[in-house]
Amino acid sequence: MRKNLKLGLFGFGCVGQGLYHVLHETKGLKAEIKKICVKTKNKPRPLGEDIFTFLKEDILLDPEIDVVVELIDDAAAAFEIVKTALQNGKAVVTANKRMLAEHLEEIYHLQKKYGKPVLYEGSVCGSIPIIRNLEEYYDNDLISSIEGIFNGSTNYILTKVFEERKTYDDALKQAQALGFAESDPSLDVKAFDPKFKLTILIAHTFGVFVRPENIINFGIDRISSLDLKYAKDHGLTIKLIARAIKAGDKIYGLVAPQFIENTHPLSAVRNEFNAVTVEGVFAEKQLFVGKGAGSFPTGSAVLSDISALTYDYRYEYKKLHQKNHLTFSNDATVDVVVSFTGPVLVSIADFEKFKGGFQGNDQQNMQGIVKLEKIREWSLQEGINVILAPGAVVAPWVSVEREAFTYA
Ligand code: HSE
Repeated sequence: MRKNLKLGLFGFGCVGQGLYHVLHETKGLKAEIKKICVKTKNKPRPLGEDIFTFLKEDILLDPEIDVVVELIDDAAAAFEIVKTALQNGKAVVTANKRMLAEHLEEIYHLQKKYGKPVLYEGSVCGSIPIIRNLEEYYDNDLISSIEGIFNGSTNYILTKVFEERKTYDDALKQAQALGFAESDPSLDVKAFDPKFKLTILIAHTFGVFVRPENIINFGIDRISSLDLKYAKDHGLTIKLIARAIKAGDKIYGLVAPQFIENTHPLSAVRNEFNAVTVEGVFAEKQLFVGKGAGSFPTGSAVLSDISALTYDYRYEYKKLHQKNHLTFSNDATVDVVVSFTGPVLVSIADFEKFKGGFQGNDQQNMQGIVKLEKIREWSLQEGINVILAPGAVVAPWVSVEREAFTYA
């Protein structure tokens, strides 16, 4: 039997307004927004004043409100709202990936303590229903990897730069104007946002809570016109790929741009679309594609969570309870193309296995296998760009004797 729900909404930006719209277009869902708490006073808003409040207590202390829908930008304030809502016996729906990634383990325990669910399908890859699928459909499959395009803004920028020859700055401005980018777009272009999403998916795929700062991320903001030319000349494109793989009792994760063959399924995922590939030992590879950012696609994922609450759905964190004793590790290697201009910033000794290099138009490129920690080191050093090689896989590091190389 479905319940009637009264909602208290925090935030009325891009996703909040999208939710409002999709909720009113969806007949048959028994849910109604009672109050919307917003921060900025005297801002023109498309709804009458009566529904808005500036006091969080008007929602958090209202006994009539069953569900708090948290859609604000500020991760720290969002966590306080989620905690208080649970303490006050309310279910929560949120799309705040940063807040979730930073507090997921605590939120898991708070749900158990207060007996109320927190649902967050809208936090990962917008409209793609991945978390509930990992919880329900893949509850017993032995998943070996999950990977894909987890950020709409950067995929939009890369598409516009590659296919329409737009400049990086213009493409970023468009992504901001369309409401895809974060209010601090460095979270998108430096690959923090897809890392937060990967952190959340690792918990639901492998049952491991990992701190987001433990996962290495390298952004798209250092990609040069020479990298683009190299890609085009070789029948490649560049995509920002987030991935987590299981090898033995370890989970390895990485977010970094990668050269992708034009025949690869992910090369056809363009603009703000996202994609998730789940690889199971028995089912093998399955690809989910859908809009990963934007008002209505994300609003529709939030709506689906609200709908799930009408029949008391909650995440059971099934992989966590399977007690697989997996731990997160960065002790792995991957095949990269590193480039820099000007002074020599990278040496052959940085590679576990150096495969060669070339020089052109003042840019130096070096290719080979490096440890993941080397990518972290390079991400902190200005002037070095890293793009994973076509077909690169993250593999557990095994100590091998370094070979002697000549640098052509
Ligand atoms: N900034 C995010 C993106 C929004 O571009 O994917 C959706 O999470």
